[in-house]
Amino acid sequence: MTEWFAADWLALREPFDHAARSAALARRLADRLPRRPRVVDLGAGSGSLFRFLAPIIGRGHDWILLDADGALLDDAFGRTSAWARRQGFAATASGDELLVSTPRGLWRMQVSQRMLEAGDVHRGADAIVCSALLDLVSAAWLGRMCDTLTVPFLACLTVDGRQAWRPHHPYDALVRSAFRRDMRRNKGFGPALGMAAPSVALRSLAERGFTTASAPSDWRIPRTALGMQRALIDGAADAARPAHSAAATTWQEMRLRQALRGRLAITIGHRDILALPPGG
Ligand SMILES: C[S@@+](CC[C@H](N)C(=O)[O-])C[C@H]1O[C@@H](n2cnc3c(N)ncnc32)[C@H](O)[C@@H]1O
Repeated sequence: MTEWFAADWLALREPFDHAARSAALARRLADRLPRRPRVVDLGAGSGSLFRFLAPIIGRGHDWILLDADGALLDDAFGRTSAWARRQGFAATASGDELLVSTPRGLWRMQVSQRMLEAGDVHRGADAIVCSALLDLVSAAWLGRMCDTLTVPFLACLTVDGRQAWRPHHPYDALVRSAFRRDMRRNKGFGPALGMAAPSVALRSLAERGFTTASAPSDWRIPRTALGMQRALIDGAADAARPAHSAAATTWQEMRLRQALRGRLAITIGHRDILALPPGG
């Protein structure tokens, strides 16, 4: 069982993801990496994290995208080629790799379609990274992943449960708690950590001797971002509907009206985590 994510949803959220991720933690990771690092991206989807982190690493590097969804991985080449050209870089796909030529070095992207296993050992990796993944996994899965980790780890955009919808609506608390419950559904890794993921990850990594740092990486969805607001409203209402059908519909209709009139602002809390191995 895997939770599937639509390419359109990942594309819609990408600019908000990029604005939210902590560039400071990403730079600290980049500073710790060897001359031509090999980066493994868990649950990479269509490569959004590459497009954020590759320019921060800057120098030539190899990037492996792992994901269960082959269609998203296919999309990664097309999206990254188009993005590279917009930056003024040449991008060439050959076989199962995409080469991006930049003045600072050659960025090589490879993809591998596979299910992520908790005990996977990523031989030859200089860093393990992920984005919008840790809230999907279970405590047991995360613990086993930490047991096998020997290199720096950057986990971006893990939901932490904070939400602010402005203006306030009387059903906000009900919708928020239904959403938090929904986040704990099994997404294929066992009972999902949901909003507990940042604190559990920080504790699990520290217990294994990693030096950890974290920073908020909240989505700030302005009044003008109607498409993203609509997606968040619909997602929250859908999560609340099974238990609170009438309230969910009332809340959804009111929030959509506010969004259409440019009167709604939304903040969704996330955290980025950087963990450096003991003695590294
Ligand atoms: C929320 S998306 C994040 C995608 C990407 N990292 C990003 O930031 O845009 C979660 C990703 O995890 C992948 N995924 C979920 N369960 C998986 C599993 N068991 N094995 C491999 N990939 C999985 C999904 O296909 C999806 O691409």
